Amino acid sequence: MVVPESRDKMYYPSGDLQRDAHVPDLDSYLELYRKSLENPEVFWQEVADEFFWKKPATGPMLQYNFDVTKGNIYVKCMEGAKTNICYNVLDRHVRERSLGEKVAYYWEGNSPDQHMTITYSQLLSHVCRCANVLRQMGVKKGDRVSIYLPMIPELVYTMLACARIGAVHSIVFAGFSSESLCERIIDTQSSVLVTADGVYRGEKLINLKQIVDEALEKCREKASSSVTKCLVVKHPALRTKSGAACNKLQTPWDSECDVWWDEAMRGSPEECEPEWLDAEDPLFILYTSGSTGKPKGVLHTVAGYMLYTSLTFKYVFDHHHGDVYWCTADIGWITGHSYITYGPLANGATSVLFEGVPVHPHVGRFWEIIEKYKVTKFYTAPTAIRLLMKYGREPLQKYDLSSLRIVGTVGEPINPEAWQWYHEAVGQGRCPVVDTFWQTETGGHVLTPLPAATPLKPGSATFPFFGVEPAILNEHGEELEGEAEGYLVFRRPWPGIMRTLYENHERFENTYFKKFPGFYVTGDGCRRDRDGYYWITGRIDDMLNVSGHLMSTAEVEAALTEHPAVAEAAVVSRPHEVKGECLYCFVSLKDCGEFNRAVVEELKGLGQSSASCWIHVRRRKDAAATIIISAQIG
Ligand code: WTA
Repeated sequence: MVVPESRDKMYYPSGDLQRDAHVPDLDSYLELYRKSLENPEVFWQEVADEFFWKKPATGPMLQYNFDVTKGNIYVKCMEGAKTNICYNVLDRHVRERSLGEKVAYYWEGNSPDQHMTITYSQLLSHVCRCANVLRQMGVKKGDRVSIYLPMIPELVYTMLACARIGAVHSIVFAGFSSESLCERIIDTQSSVLVTADGVYRGEKLINLKQIVDEALEKCREKASSSVTKCLVVKHPALRTKSGAACNKLQTPWDSECDVWWDEAMRGSPEECEPEWLDAEDPLFILYTSGSTGKPKGVLHTVAGYMLYTSLTFKYVFDHHHGDVYWCTADIGWITGHSYITYGPLANGATSVLFEGVPVHPHVGRFWEIIEKYKVTKFYTAPTAIRLLMKYGREPLQKYDLSSLRIVGTVGEPINPEAWQWYHEAVGQGRCPVVDTFWQTETGGHVLTPLPAATPLKPGSATFPFFGVEPAILNEHGEELEGEAEGYLVFRRPWPGIMRTLYENHERFENTYFKKFPGFYVTGDGCRRDRDGYYWITGRIDDMLNVSGHLMSTAEVEAALTEHPAVAEAAVVSRPHEVKGECLYCFVSLKDCGEFNRAVVEELKGLGQSSASCWIHVRRRKDAAATIIISAQIG
């Protein structure tokens, strides 16, 4: 795989890191990789042996068809087995491994004076109480629960409570608009919605409950009001008197439907028998942008996702007992699902759960938190790195970052300049950078370095993870060998790959399997260099990536043309220094339409609710009827 005399500059792991690493060198990686492909049955069975199974599997570790010409596409892992992921990530640690007193999360709020510590046994008891409340609200196995919560511990409690009782969680990022929330509630037909009264994002107070009520009203207008109960958390920052601004927050209330979290939990039992689920029962739905504009409900199932997130977390972050791990993503995205909740908890890890933003109340917030909790493994997005790079090294120098051992990135290609800065300024030249390529659909990392094994090239996601077999195809579907550039595809499944799009298997097959029969098509372009390293070149469909968040041009175009004055809209991507890409929207008005501030504001509103991004408008002097809008998340 690697040519030792490669002409590229390589970064090698230190002997110190290699000494106690799970995969200590390239040969070990290659050997395990070979085993995972040649003997997947044995490889994955060994992983499964670490977990609790109420009933063993009757089928093989993996069964599948990836070829549309041969019938339906399917993937199954450990058919016949019964288990519960919540039991495995909590009870197993507390009951069988005496980890009850170990810290599961250090929660750090938007404001530095807001923080709390949650141990594994506390987490288990919160989860059980929440699970009992959900059951009492009538939620049963297979029912969907929508969750629209900021990064507070109740978000983790609720998702695990769903997993415990076999309900399917559908988390909607709490920065999304009422329109997006409504669309997702309708698609899942959730009976219960869990939210909070409000949240501070930086300086800004957001009235979440009001957005929820607007969403529910929109659902009713569309004659689809599945939600019967809305469980509302009082945000910790809005509980105290010092959060005096909370007085400004009017929480709309419907006593038929709305229930305060604290009141519901009071008296709810701390014991809750898990629902024993089939390996292939659904665990969650998470929406991701689709090129037609309608978001796709990616569905993951219990056993395969558990094995895969657990194993990738263990190896990619080389997890060890004393680690303090921090992933800065929001749980509303797949990165948070896999690498804040399920992967770390499956390993009994201690994580930081951070609600805030990188520059509030000051630009050294990330570094301050690393020092405060002595973070050893740090995982963030290139967009955050590029943002913080702009402030230079001074904010970093105020803090002790000597605890760091591994740093990682996710969500978009990282440019070599940002990689170098991350490696030198943050990782102090000592920490390998794991550039992890994956997707909502893949469930976990699929191309990634292993920190003690893989010589690194800045900007390359390097090699496939265990069980993953990538290929590069040309436009005609011919496989390219050696040095090549083309479509990145995968020839076979791994346990954590999505199983379908919720209630739309046809779209699942058309989107991912039709173009090149026999392969899962990622939608990303990729180059393999002469040393066998993979370099993601970015999306090659109508998707773009703003600050690590995928969105489709069609989605924004459809929203803009809803405006009565708009004749046509065309949305394209443009490189952006910090956010990777941003949107430029070309809008032609109808003859009757007049360009003025009001139209611009209305268009911004429409664009924002579709792409859930904040839109900035600029008017080009030479463009009479064409307004150019640049949109960006954050
Ligand atoms: C992009 C996020 C380059 C890619 C986990 C992919 C990346 C999309 C990387 C999925 C990376 C993610 N290098 N590009 N390390 N990681 N991407 O579903 O285009 O939100 O298809 O999942 O992000 O975005 P999603």
